[in-house]
Amino acid sequence: MQHFRNEELKQELNDVEKLTEERLDVLLARFLKEFEAGEVEARGWPMHFSAYKVAKAAMNAYSRVLARKHPELRINCAHPGYVKTDLTRHLGLLTPEEGANNVVKVALLPEGDRATGVFFALGQEALFERQTTTIIMLATSSLRLRIKDCCWLLVDVPKEARGKQGS
Ligand SMILES: NC(=O)c1ccc[n+]([C@@H]2O[C@H](COP(=O)([O-])OP(=O)(O)OC[C@H]3O[C@@H](n4cnc5c(N)ncnc54)[C@H](OP(=O)(O)O)[C@@H]3O)[C@@H](O)[C@H]2O)c1
Repeated sequence: MQHFRNEELKQELNDVEKLTEERLDVLLARFLKEFEAGEVEARGWPMHFSAYKVAKAAMNAYSRVLARKHPELRINCAHPGYVKTDLTRHLGLLTPEEGANNVVKVALLPEGDRATGVFFALGQEALFERQTTTIIMLATSSLRLRIKDCCWLLVDVPKEARGKQGS
């Protein structure tokens, strides 16, 4: 979110009490239109890797909307850290196993931990506002984990870590 320069937009994405799925769709459609029109800079969207950053911010916001809508579930986002994968051209600081560990830790929070609508970076609670790159539920490359029959969590796991973690 720190890469968004449009304050109004930032505020809207952060205001999870008011934000809805429908409004999120409208904002994303607007991004696509303005991206195609070459207006990314003028409209205050992130300037570099715009699509990636907007997609992550939108999924972060969506996870919070879902968490609010389904208080009986635990719906959180997890950032694995900077991981050596194809995405980072293997320049990351963490091995895929370490990155996966940071995500699985969130998926397996102790039963008494009711954290929901929370952003975890490297396994620790962090601020949504400062994050743009997250591993998050509902991504296309997601794995679905069923946790103690009480909640569903959809997370991405860096590709190289999937087989090795037995996930
Ligand atoms: N690596 C990091 O440092 C880092 C940091 C923060 C967040 N993340 C997030 O972690 C997730 C995984 O990242 P990564 O580093 O593992 O990336 P990656 O090495 O580029 O792997 C991405 C994976 O997503 C699959 N994929 C892409 N488009 C897909 C689609 N439409 N349907 C199904 N699968 C699709 C790819 O499958 P194919 O190989 O078959 O194309 C690939 O296995 C991403 O959401 C990324 O933003 C990564």
